[in-house]
Amino acid sequence: MMHQQFEMGRSSELLKVVSWLCLVGGVCGIGANWGTQASHRLPPRTVVQMLKDNGIQKVKLFDAEDRTLSALAKTGIQVMVGIPNDMLAGLAADEKTAGRWVSKNVSKYINNGVDIRYVAVGNEPFLETYNGTFLRSTYPALQNIQAALIAAGLSNQVKVTVPLNADVYGSSSDKPSGGDFRTDIHDLMLSIVKFLNDNGAPFTVNIYPFISLYNDPNFPVDYAFFEGSPTPIVDGTITYSNVFDANHDTLIAALQKNGFGNVSIIVGEIGWPTDGDINANPLFAQRFNQGFMNHISNSNGTPLRPGPIDAYLFSLIDEDEKSVQPGNFERHWGIFAYDGSPKYQLNLRTASNSSTLIRAKDIKYLDRKWCVLKPSANLDDSEIAPSVSYACGKADCTSLGYKTSCGDLDVRGNISYAFNSYYQKNGQDDRACGFSGLATITEKDPSTTTCKFNIMIDVGSGTSWKTRTQMELSLNFFWYMVLPFTLALV
Ligand SMILES: *[C@@H]1O[C@H](CO)[C@@H](O)[C@H](O)[C@H]1NC(C)=O
Ligand SMILES: *[C@@H]1O[C@H](CO)[C@@H](O)[C@H](O)[C@H]1NC(C)=O
Ligand SMILES: *[C@@H]1O[C@H](CO)[C@@H](O)[C@H](O)[C@H]1NC(C)=O
Ligand SMILES: *[C@@H]1O[C@H](CO)[C@@H](O)[C@H](O)[C@H]1NC(C)=O
Ligand SMILES: *[C@@H]1O[C@H](CO)[C@@H](O)[C@H](O)[C@H]1NC(C)=O
Repeated sequence: MMHQQFEMGRSSELLKVVSWLCLVGGVCGIGANWGTQASHRLPPRTVVQMLKDNGIQKVKLFDAEDRTLSALAKTGIQVMVGIPNDMLAGLAADEKTAGRWVSKNVSKYINNGVDIRYVAVGNEPFLETYNGTFLRSTYPALQNIQAALIAAGLSNQVKVTVPLNADVYGSSSDKPSGGDFRTDIHDLMLSIVKFLNDNGAPFTVNIYPFISLYNDPNFPVDYAFFEGSPTPIVDGTITYSNVFDANHDTLIAALQKNGFGNVSIIVGEIGWPTDGDINANPLFAQRFNQGFMNHISNSNGTPLRPGPIDAYLFSLIDEDEKSVQPGNFERHWGIFAYDGSPKYQLNLRTASNSSTLIRAKDIKYLDRKWCVLKPSANLDDSEIAPSVSYACGKADCTSLGYKTSCGDLDVRGNISYAFNSYYQKNGQDDRACGFSGLATITEKDPSTTTCKFNIMIDVGSGTSWKTRTQMELSLNFFWYMVLPFTLALV
């Protein structure tokens, strides 16, 4: 009890300091999600410098990778480390496993000067698309990690949490005040919330107005942003003119209804993608993210939860190897592109109040060359279709499609885009620009005003992609050389 009270006193002091900073300087901490599902990752030290240059004080990770954590040591940047969903069952089954995880992935780094504040146990484990796979393991894993943190003497400094998608709650009345947890996981959610509350830990929620728009073509576009809406939601005495506030307060109502109205909230992911869908473009992304930053910079909070909002932008950098199962936009959430270049102007409302993002420094690119369809190639060539689908399957064609950045390319442009994507992903290896003799290397940039044919960054040697490249090349060799030959024999 004493402990609990001390903790509460300290955090409310902290809260005051943060609000004061927010009010006086327009300075209010913003965090960023740093994911690493990219074929050519920026070096962690480069990313850390970029975080510092842009005044980003907190990062949320999806695992506890050594290179990333080591780069964060002694930087003053606060860290949320993550436990991937596929580790939950093991951690749930065995306290010792949880003890080892905490020892190797938390204690060790804290001792080396990494400012770890949170452990995210799982990532959106109750998403309906997972069919309940993680329903049984998440809560016991959470308990075991908390027990391990206590045993390690770290439970005051490091809090557990479970980043959840906003689909864990809903409203019976379509208004925030009708908020409650999803029926199928209601009891489980209450157990978890009680556990978080008892341990002074936050509830982490990911809120995605973009997905509301993506899933429902009739969703009022203005309501997704922060400039007021002609169709606000009137809920008793409160008028909601943006879906972020309404969604957030649906959670607050759900927590209040179940007796946990004081649990602190972290907005674990918030953002807007720039490509891969008609509503995913730099203009909308800038409008949303700048609107959000302005919205939280006055520390007014939301109608049901006044005060500073603790949020992590999703995301820092594009990741070209993310699953496109949610949609083609999934690889385009970064405020920075794959090479650490800003995609649009954004004032993060940090101390500098700079209206522009600062690009990653000292980025090395591969040579200025591209792989394209040979001008002499015949479009009726039967090898074209399988070549394109092979390239797109292995590399990234999510910028090709209706109303995307490369949606206006002609047929030849489309094919070239696919070939180049594969070639760059394979580090500009000559053998990755074969495609049955249909492709050729050019030094003339095929990019158009909206469609960028990327040049990959040079991540140096000794990294794992080289090995994978070899494997993929031999697979390519199999498909294009061995398989047709075998078929011809049959
Ligand atoms: C930050 O910059 C904006 C313009 O981009 C300006 O309107 C605002 O007053 C500035 N805020 C502070 C606290 O300097
Ligand atoms: C620590 O985290 C890494 C990265 O997520 C994981 O691969 C490793 O298994 C973890 N270590 C332990 C002892 O669980
Ligand atoms: C969930 O179930 C659906 C339908 O049975 C199936 O298509 C899908 O692959 C399942 N997803 C997972 C992650 O198990
Ligand atoms: C929430 O906090 C307030 C003030 O700290 C306290 O009076 C109230 O009882 C708390 N409510 C719950 C549900 O814990
Ligand atoms: C280019 O490719 C995209 C994605 O496969 C397709 O939707 C589009 O129709 C293609 N455009 C042309 C002109 O072939």
